[in-house]
Amino acid sequence: TADLIIAPSILAADFARLAEEARAVRGAADWLHVDVMDNHFVPNLTIGPPVVESLRRATDIPFDCHLMIEDPVRWAPAYAELGAYNVTFHAEACDDPVALAKDLRAAGTKAGLAIDRDTPIEPYLELLPHFDTLLVMTIKAGFGGQAFMPELLDKVRLARRHANAGHLDIRIEVDGGIADATIEQAALAGADAFVAGTAVYGAHDPAEACRKLRALAEA
Ligand code: DX5
Ligand code: ZN
Repeated sequence: TADLIIAPSILAADFARLAEEARAVRGAADWLHVDVMDNHFVPNLTIGPPVVESLRRATDIPFDCHLMIEDPVRWAPAYAELGAYNVTFHAEACDDPVALAKDLRAAGTKAGLAIDRDTPIEPYLELLPHFDTLLVMTIKAGFGGQAFMPELLDKVRLARRHANAGHLDIRIEVDGGIADATIEQAALAGADAFVAGTAVYGAHDPAEACRKLRALAEA
């Protein structure tokens, strides 16, 4: 695996050309970040299993599915079954995150826990050994193109210290407002996976945008 993960978000892509948009970052991105929204957990609606499954067959980049949905216990296993590499669900939407993480791992995928803007991270630190990915939102979940909130990196710093002290094998991913001007501070805080929607798919050359983000994060 790469030292740093660059994960372009297809939320900022052209939804009428998803397969082409996925291929546009081939060789430059590590994961494709797939934002699933149900219009209940967040006030926005994107795609669900049928579209993700079709896109899965159209490309070979690993899928990082970010489920912003109300009932992940019911829906998350479907993403494991269709071949997602990582399935991340929100702490705010799940009473027993460890049980769902175990189910996802048993289904053959990596399990991720997402923490939204207004959720403290402290209660979840002890659950991290059950997860492969911790996604710290750096905006409020729901929409692309929002301004990065640097104060949320305190959660990344805390999680990074906790993960290092416990020798945990976990990715710490940041999502929201990641761009050339913000990725370095997120990397310095301890993130090692970076979601970028607007910064990648709003660029003329999405692959070049990925390479630039990676170079800045590595610096
Ligand atoms: C928003 C999504 C993000 C979104 C980020 O809730 O989880 O993945 O695509 O978009 P940017 O990078 O534009 O902030
Ligand atoms: Zn996301």
